[in-house]
Amino acid sequence: MSKNVLIIKGSARRDGYSNRLCDEISNIFKEDNVTVFDAYKESPKPCTGCNSCEKSGKCVSRDLDSFFEVFEAADIVVFSSPVYNGTFTSPVKTLLDRFQVYYTGFYANGRVQQIKKRRRAYLVVSAGRDGEKALQYMQWQLSCACSILNLELVQSFLCPFTDTEPRYDQALSEVTRSLHNEKTQE
Ligand SMILES: Cc1cc2nc3c(=O)[nH]c(=O)nc-3n(C[C@H](O)[C@H](O)[C@H](O)COP(=O)(O)O)c2cc1C
Repeated sequence: MSKNVLIIKGSARRDGYSNRLCDEISNIFKEDNVTVFDAYKESPKPCTGCNSCEKSGKCVSRDLDSFFEVFEAADIVVFSSPVYNGTFTSPVKTLLDRFQVYYTGFYANGRVQQIKKRRRAYLVVSAGRDGEKALQYMQWQLSCACSILNLELVQSFLCPFTDTEPRYDQALSEVTRSLHNEKTQE
């Protein structure tokens, strides 16, 4: 059965390492229904903490309405980002903040998942240096979000040392192996 795959690109560098890994993932799922969300191009508005979503269940900023539709329908969500100052790039962090609409819904409704479908998430990270600490932190940040998005963070991939000796081929072979397995899972 065809899967809905959402790939969130978190780098402005079109041919950067994380975007290249995302393109490979798109290719693996080419027979499925893939949507690519380019976080830099879309440049989501920041959450202002106005708390309107607590009452209305909607965000006052409407720029992500169609993103949220695709996000809720996704079976697989790939988050990708280079490490910038130890964490996600700004537009990806903004996106995580904008999931606030689901946080408030979760707590306002007796800790019930607002998205009914259980889905799977992957994280792709590129780093100029070894990236280990940043990856741990990013995994933790993303896991917190996943817990109220009905997402299981299945696996993370790191492409380190891009400023000196990029380990791109190693990252690519890990991504390819795991995502091919994912593709064949029912
Ligand atoms: C503003 C900025 C901040 C960065 N901060 C870090 C950092 O904290 N740690 C690190 O390992 N690399 C850091 N880098 C390097 C990027 O993570 C690295 O160049 C990465 O490969 C870029 O990813 P991309 O090729 O997917 O665009 C930084 C780069 C920029 C431009």
